[in-house]
Amino acid sequence: MAVETPLKGNIGDSIKRKEDDRFIRGKGNYLDDVNLPGMLHMAINRSPFAHARIKSINTAAAQAVPGVVAVVTGELLAQHKLAWMPTLSGDTQAVLATDKVRFQGQEVACVIANDPYVARDAAALIEVDYDVLQAVVNPQQALKPGAPLIRDEKEGQKDNHIYHWEAGDKAKTDEAFSKADRVVKLDTFYPRCHPSPLETCGIVADVNPATGHATLWMTSQAPHAHRTLFAIVAGLPEQNIRIISPDIGGGFGNKVPIYPGYVVATAASLLIGKPVKWVEDRSENLISTGFARDYYMSGELALRNDGRMLGLRVKMLSDNGAFYADAQPTKFRAGLFHIVTGSYDLPAAHVETDGAYTNKAPGGVAYRCSFRVTEASYLIERLVESAALEMKMDPTEIRLKNFIQPEQFPYMSATGFEYDSGNYPKAMQVALDKLGYKELRKEQAEKRKKGELMGIGVASFTEVVGAGPGKHYDIAGLRMFDSAELRVHPTGKAILKLGVKSQGQGHETTFAQIVTEELGIPAADIEVQEGDTDNTPYGLGTYASRSTPVGGAATAMVSRKLRDKAKIIAAHLLEASAADIEFDHGKFFVRGSPSKSKTIQDVAFAAYTNLPDGLEAGLEGVTYYDPPNMTYPFGTYLVVVDIDRGTGQVKVRRMVAVDDCGVRINPMVVEGQIHGGLTEGFGIAFMELITFDEEGNCIGSNFTDYLLPTSWETPKFEMGETVTPSPHHPIGAKGVGESATVGSPAAYVNAVIDAVGHLGIRNIDMPVTSDKVWAALNEKGAAE
Ligand code: CDP
Repeated sequence: MAVETPLKGNIGDSIKRKEDDRFIRGKGNYLDDVNLPGMLHMAINRSPFAHARIKSINTAAAQAVPGVVAVVTGELLAQHKLAWMPTLSGDTQAVLATDKVRFQGQEVACVIANDPYVARDAAALIEVDYDVLQAVVNPQQALKPGAPLIRDEKEGQKDNHIYHWEAGDKAKTDEAFSKADRVVKLDTFYPRCHPSPLETCGIVADVNPATGHATLWMTSQAPHAHRTLFAIVAGLPEQNIRIISPDIGGGFGNKVPIYPGYVVATAASLLIGKPVKWVEDRSENLISTGFARDYYMSGELALRNDGRMLGLRVKMLSDNGAFYADAQPTKFRAGLFHIVTGSYDLPAAHVETDGAYTNKAPGGVAYRCSFRVTEASYLIERLVESAALEMKMDPTEIRLKNFIQPEQFPYMSATGFEYDSGNYPKAMQVALDKLGYKELRKEQAEKRKKGELMGIGVASFTEVVGAGPGKHYDIAGLRMFDSAELRVHPTGKAILKLGVKSQGQGHETTFAQIVTEELGIPAADIEVQEGDTDNTPYGLGTYASRSTPVGGAATAMVSRKLRDKAKIIAAHLLEASAADIEFDHGKFFVRGSPSKSKTIQDVAFAAYTNLPDGLEAGLEGVTYYDPPNMTYPFGTYLVVVDIDRGTGQVKVRRMVAVDDCGVRINPMVVEGQIHGGLTEGFGIAFMELITFDEEGNCIGSNFTDYLLPTSWETPKFEMGETVTPSPHHPIGAKGVGESATVGSPAAYVNAVIDAVGHLGIRNIDMPVTSDKVWAALNEKGAAE
């Protein structure tokens, strides 16, 4: 029997995730595992109303509860100039309401007690006298003349409009439309949904009254950026703030914004002089923290009769809730929504976006998405499906006819993105072959004759991930670069410290693999550290699939920096010139004589024991990487559904996902990422909905109303891949974490529309639940 050589962990090796050892043994260290001596607990009293003026707050009953240490109100915070805080989008947000409440679930007062249950019970005893105002629950209503003014505290704010932002060329697009044979239009709504990570948000704030040092354990996807913002908001010297993000049980964008609970717990710890813990419960997470989407989109495609696309016109209205609080790069008010031209060679495009305040929790976090790429991808892929239907073309044919061709890369899109690389026809072909597309179309035709409803959905998405470059992309003024620090110890073992922060993506494994590839140190010998601002170099954090494109590039570059120094040391050991030293898989040798070599471990030891004269000791370095461009992962997803005419139930029979994220560092981890995203996309497409009644009551505040897919509902996924390296990334990798959430919802919905399109049904908004499908069939006289 052949003996298998254990994988060393090079790029392309599916080694098992190092971090899983502690996770599957229940030995992870999550925020709620942090318990400090003398620690107090915080609970929040929240508004039951969506829009109401606060007449008075009576805290006497809460204060009187044994065990209560303090009750914090907005008025108290205002005395310390902390009642309002800046948001990551340049707006302001109430920390604790002073004048009005602006969404149901808004933070009104906090109780600090010696026990979490006492804190909760006491918070319920706070009496708030409200004068209820009319609630505004959608952006159309918000922008009507005479609508109640939500942000009346903002100087100069006369209505509920937040921003207007445009991309592309209006004149050129109008001209394209004037020359079109036909125009296909689609109005669609991407409803509010929630990232709902397994672990909710929380903080343990420990401000030491003697030293003034603040140690904040936080569920933060961006600890360094949060530290800077804390320094600015709280006026604490930045060197005295240490943010530690421990193990995080999923983030998906939910842990990017700064929430009032973080600020109050820190202020309370500062004032009381004891550590304070705040952990949300599930409903608090679902009603008050970072919602996603809520985009009303209208798209028009100008086409020639042969199916060639000439132009794209898009209008979008976003519901941002009461505070514009989600992180968007400063220059781009609707995030990267202008990637809406997708995978298509569109000569002209124009995108107009507007945002409005409503009486809902702040929305717009990039839920497993790169700043609104998901909404954009959904719109273009649904619109292309509509065009195919109206023109009676096969949905693959219209795509193939309009794809940006491989030889067109680098490709400048009509809205200003320079796509780095791609081969869209190939990814589609791999997917079609895997599915057996032609056979299934035949089956569909047969079924249709018998009145049975079967559909095949297609989506060929292109994403844009890996912000910066810093000169174009910043969050709250902080340029979007990232960093890696690598220290190789005398025994050849290493520590890699990163500015990004995993929430379950497997960084401890995959980033070590980059070092393995570049320096030859086995992945098992590399400890990856993230999430501690005192001990890692400054970075912008993990969201928008930026870790591999930016932090991964920094890791490769710092490894190369060390390799250059290692060559000098190897030359000294081999008594040769550094210019003649070659490196291959962890071995240094004189060109032409590979048999006489020094290992990276020999060199590491010599870096501390036997150096050439004049060379600095040690083998370590740091790199701050500002990417020259983003990366553009892509893929084709195909979904087959069967629909029951009697109930409207949609059954996903097959789902084929072909992804291209450039070079795959760890194929198994990549597949895991895609599985997760496809599952979330399935949930969004068919199950998950947060909605609000006319009074602004949030419907979907628990997991019996807000339905997440379990293994019972989730379809089986069949995966495929193509590899088109990114030409500007040091190892050719593109991000992948979000591809499947971005690309899959349109594929699922397109499959449903493909099944019912012949009946004249053009759109069913997500979530595509059986009642909606049945109602649509019934309207066309096709329900049973
Ligand atoms: O920023 P985030 O970690 O969420 O997303 P990502 O950079 O797309 O990476 C997700 C996980 O997949 C990480 O562990 C990556 O290192 C891994 N990955 C990979 O192995 N190969 C790629 N081409 C892209 C990501």
